[in-house]
Amino acid sequence: MTHNTAPTPHSSTPLTQDELKTLVGQAALQYVVPGEIVGVGTGSTVNKFIDALASMKDQIKGAVSSSVASTERLTALGIKVFDSNEVDRLSVYIDGADEIDGQGNMVKGGGAALTREKIVAAQSAVFVCIADESKLVTTLGKFPLPVEVIPMATRRVIAQFAAMGGSAHIRLKDGNPLVTDNGQYIVDVNGLQITDPLAFESQVSQWPGVVTLGVFAYQRAQVCLLGTADGVKTMKF
Ligand code: A5P
Repeated sequence: MTHNTAPTPHSSTPLTQDELKTLVGQAALQYVVPGEIVGVGTGSTVNKFIDALASMKDQIKGAVSSSVASTERLTALGIKVFDSNEVDRLSVYIDGADEIDGQGNMVKGGGAALTREKIVAAQSAVFVCIADESKLVTTLGKFPLPVEVIPMATRRVIAQFAAMGGSAHIRLKDGNPLVTDNGQYIVDVNGLQITDPLAFESQVSQWPGVVTLGVFAYQRAQVCLLGTADGVKTMKF
């Protein structure tokens, strides 16, 4: 891994997490290729990127979006959204993460958009992760691991995680199971230490009823723009 840091103007007040997200959202513009379509993730950090992207909307063809929420935000700002099947290969996909390690492996899905995020990441040549420094971990597993599951499989999938030492529960919204953009449920798993993300992703992805696992090791980041107190640190993997 290599990294360098672009300093922010000196200020005596530490930047808030929201300001760090704004910084990395703006910094990600340098990876957007003029004349092309950009892959766009989901979440509060990506919302900052989408807002910044509006400043160069006339220089790009549009975006492929990973969620209904991002599509609505892009469209409201006048950025054309393409269906992923209308597009062959994307040069770059820009998205946040719930956790990222020193090799570019991530946990994602805190916003329940992990399946479409993995699809758009898979059709992109480079994954640029934008995150504030609270997301950097040594070993994945601190953040509850989101897993999108077909509803009839949730009980067995929860039992399978329990057998490997995890404590899993169905994510709720307003007292009912949260339903994803794809009509499925999210199971969040606590208590895992994911020391071999690639092997873990391979294993759990094969369980019947698992649509998508929030471990992004096959679709790991090649670049991370990390918002720190000293400015935006660029990590390359
Ligand atoms: C959405 O499903 C997630 O994968 C997000 O990318 C992740 O949760 C990071 O979100 P924030 O930028 O809101 O922290």
